[in-house]
Amino acid sequence: MIDAEDPGELLDYLIARGHLTGASGVTVTNLAGGVSNKTVLVHHPAGAWVIKQALAQLRVQATWLSDPARIHSEAAGMRALARLIPARHLTRFLFEDADNRLLAMEAVPEPFENFKTQLLSGQIEPGAIEQFAGVLGQIHAASAGDAALAREFGDRTFFESLRLAPYYQAAAAAVPDAAHFLDTLITDTRATRQALVHGDYSPKNVLVRNRTLILLDHEVIHYGDPAFDVGFATAHLLSKAHHLTAHQAAFIDATRRFWRHYLDTAGDADAERAARHSVACLLARVAGKSPLEYLSATEQSRQLAVCIDLIRGGRLADPDVVAKRFAAALV
Ligand SMILES: Nc1ncnc2c1ncn2[C@@H]1O[C@H](COP(=O)(O)OP(=O)(O)O)[C@@H](O)[C@H]1O
Ligand SMILES: [Mg+2]
Repeated sequence: MIDAEDPGELLDYLIARGHLTGASGVTVTNLAGGVSNKTVLVHHPAGAWVIKQALAQLRVQATWLSDPARIHSEAAGMRALARLIPARHLTRFLFEDADNRLLAMEAVPEPFENFKTQLLSGQIEPGAIEQFAGVLGQIHAASAGDAALAREFGDRTFFESLRLAPYYQAAAAAVPDAAHFLDTLITDTRATRQALVHGDYSPKNVLVRNRTLILLDHEVIHYGDPAFDVGFATAHLLSKAHHLTAHQAAFIDATRRFWRHYLDTAGDADAERAARHSVACLLARVAGKSPLEYLSATEQSRQLAVCIDLIRGGRLADPDVVAKRFAAALV
């Protein structure tokens, strides 16, 4: 198997497979940012590609293994999403190679910004939250009840090993007060097969180019519980509300707009389960195996305490209620 991060090896590979005619005018740059793949930018005379190669051990401190065959899910996800949402929100899929556990897609042309970087700098561009919510709503609405997609993406092994285990099960083991809440949610999630779920719908996996959001990183895609994506995304917005005290009101408002716009686009949603996923992700990102790196130790313990209060405080009707109660608890 080739090492995609070895420029010489990658170049030889691309030429041998006929993707490039020669090395002239080709530059290869390793991209930072991901933890579960090698990601390499290849500029060539006719354009630019990104080669993504799945890692067996994720680049995190803990032992976290995941079968690199998941690169196929990502490739299949790119092809499926291209039928569900407008092309401007995706990078074009080029080819995959199962033996070398890699795929190739068009590179997003500069200039662009990472959506997470933008948000963490306190900048919320007009319309960005509505797009973030709307694209997700479209994915869910367009895939709901689709038997062919349910079959193709029915295997949820990667969702189990990359989400349920390290996020929810690890948090349940670490926080006994939340164990029942999380275990019930895991059971409910496993029992739900409603729509295509992105599984990693984080601002970190979104690039912003000319005010258009472009989605990346589809390796956890599966047919399951769409409320998970809503909870995952809103937990990112709420954690930023927590961390960026100067922008707290703006991020609480952004979370509430996200939910409203998501509902408008998706047309239908399990509001209560989305609320539970939101709290579960808020908790998992401070008590699970993959803590949010920008939260300080103080912020992490405060977020944990707030989540336990939210869980004890009774029924959470929808993510709007979560946003309001989370904001009230931070004061
Ligand atoms: N098509 C692309 N065009 C430009 N940059 C990309 C592209 N794909 C990935 N990247 C860059 O590489 C980073 C990691 O990619 P990602 O797909 O999220 O990998 P991982 O699964 O390891 O998180 C992204 O945050 C982005 O900065
Ligand atoms: Mg990523």
